[in-house]
Amino acid sequence: MSKLLEVRNLSKRFGGLLATNNVSFDLEQGEIVGLIGPNGAGKTTLVNLITGVLNASEGSVVFCGKDVTRQRPNEAARSGLARTFQIVQPFPQMTVLENVKAGALFAGGAISGAQAERDAMEHLEFVGLAPQAHRPATALTLPSRKRLELAKSLAMKPKLLLLDEVNAGLNTSEIDQALGLMRAIAARGITILLIEHLMKVVTSLSQRVLVLHHGELISQGAPNAVLNDPRVIEAYLGNKFAARENAMAKKEIA
Ligand SMILES: Nc1ncnc2c1ncn2[C@@H]1O[C@H](COP(=O)(O)OP(=O)(O)OP(=O)(O)O)[C@@H](O)[C@H]1O
Ligand SMILES: [Mg+2]
Repeated sequence: MSKLLEVRNLSKRFGGLLATNNVSFDLEQGEIVGLIGPNGAGKTTLVNLITGVLNASEGSVVFCGKDVTRQRPNEAARSGLARTFQIVQPFPQMTVLENVKAGALFAGGAISGAQAERDAMEHLEFVGLAPQAHRPATALTLPSRKRLELAKSLAMKPKLLLLDEVNAGLNTSEIDQALGLMRAIAARGITILLIEHLMKVVTSLSQRVLVLHHGELISQGAPNAVLNDPRVIEAYLGNKFAARENAMAKKEIA
């Protein structure tokens, strides 16, 4: 296995807040790695730093042996780094198919409109959205829009796919389908960093899990070891207690 991504001492400051605090980790070619942590832990910020949506305050990102720390998002996509957005943002005036076709033309190496359309259709079939290909993107339900994000990212022929809560809002049987889909993506040789709140999805897919808390990488390793790590338990429980206390405080005020 060879290193695909090397994140070194990465930090991001928003005013007084360190949203990412000195984070270092590697991704090996072909891995599925889970990225978990309570709300506000800094997961999306980390993905934004890796894909050039945000500029790092400190630290570096090396992808395929090349320093990409200052790379713009469009360059990141063309270099094989694709991501889905937690807040989905399809091109609203386009159909489902046109959205995916845009990805194929922009970063997927399609050399003609016809080829881009064929590629796009294949990816829509792969994620189960082919029947909706000619509908406007805005007509899709939220889980389907997440599938569209996934098809668009796949059309960019990524080496590394960063999935930001792509399975949010799915019901139990849809989650089982999603697990199959993620495995099929990995079987194509695509490395996956998976941000996910559903622990069932994380533990059944990930070979390794990274845990963020207040921007810091507090634990990493095999899923079961990580979920039994006292620091991880405390991070999650601490958050639940804080949420309960907040709710109680609000009731007292009301
Ligand atoms: N553009 C921004 N400006 C200021 N603060 C930000 C910005 N983006 C994120 N933050 C803050 O940085 C912290 C990390 O946010 P982030 O969205 O990365 O967390 P997350 O782990 O993805 O959370 P969630 O599970 O809710 O998606 C939060 O405190 C958030 O309010
Ligand atoms: Mg997030």
